[in-house]
Amino acid sequence: MAYNLLKGKRGIISGALDENSIAWKVAEKAHEEGAIFVLTNAPIAMRMGEINELAKKTNSKIIPADATNVDDITNLFTQSQEILGGKIDFVLHSIGMSVNIRKNVPYPELDYEYYTKGIDVSAYSLHKMLSVAYKLDAISEWGSVVALSFIAAQRTYPFYTDMADIKALLESITRSFGYYYGKHRNVRVNTISQSPTKTTAGNGIKGFSDLYDFADSVSPLGNASAESCADYCITLFSDLTKMVTMQNLFHDGGYSSTGASAEVIEKIGKGK
Ligand SMILES: NC(=O)c1ccc[n+]([C@@H]2O[C@H](COP(=O)([O-])OP(=O)(O)OC[C@H]3O[C@@H](n4cnc5c(N)ncnc54)[C@H](O)[C@@H]3O)[C@@H](O)[C@H]2O)c1
Repeated sequence: MAYNLLKGKRGIISGALDENSIAWKVAEKAHEEGAIFVLTNAPIAMRMGEINELAKKTNSKIIPADATNVDDITNLFTQSQEILGGKIDFVLHSIGMSVNIRKNVPYPELDYEYYTKGIDVSAYSLHKMLSVAYKLDAISEWGSVVALSFIAAQRTYPFYTDMADIKALLESITRSFGYYYGKHRNVRVNTISQSPTKTTAGNGIKGFSDLYDFADSVSPLGNASAESCADYCITLFSDLTKMVTMQNLFHDGGYSSTGASAEVIEKIGKGK
């Protein structure tokens, strides 16, 4: 059911790789809610071609951009304003990649080149997007920027290795830039800390399926799906959340506030 929450709004949505991507669901919902937007992803991700299907379905254009490259991001914001006919009202940063995770490197042995790459792709990229938009004055007054995070920024999950540190930086950039952009143009910047979700990035984490089941048994509401995450993003892009900024917002079915659930205790109780 749509509510026209984004009627007349212009956006940029990054990170839709395939139909499991959180960004894919956000694009579908934003379209349903009346927004017009540009889709973007790394040039290498275009090769898979699935994003063309989403562009067709949502009547949107695609602008390839490597989120680590300031020239690409400048082109993204410049062209998006031309295509959409004005300043941008909302931006989704849905970008994450760790070479250390991909290569199963344990935390005490992190490869520093991989670490640097992960920071650049998954955290500096938010700073770069915000910085380019700030310089170009590309985001409209009361615009909204949302990036996606994970609770490993606050608590340790061994297999999440360097991404835990990277998400902590992402959340810090959100607060710091949220201050400057709030003062400058009333633009709000938030992260959503999402439940484990079965996507390409999620499934790439060692032991992900067990983590997914664990979080599902801890959360009183169960894990939040990609679709419900998209719904939450839409509310943050809408005018109904104008005073929410510089926050890390847990979207996890209650996981972050639960110490232990009866289900997990029973599972490890060995019948005693
Ligand atoms: N899946 C989960 O369990 C989970 C949980 C919490 C947060 N998140 C976060 O959600 C976001 C989206 O991930 P997802 O789970 O939808 O997986 P996904 O694999 O579908 O999306 C990740 C996207 O990042 C893009 N990307 C990678 N390098 C890039 C670059 N250099 N430039 C531009 N784009 C690049 C990929 O092409 C891909 O589209 C990520 O920030 C991820 O860390 C995921």
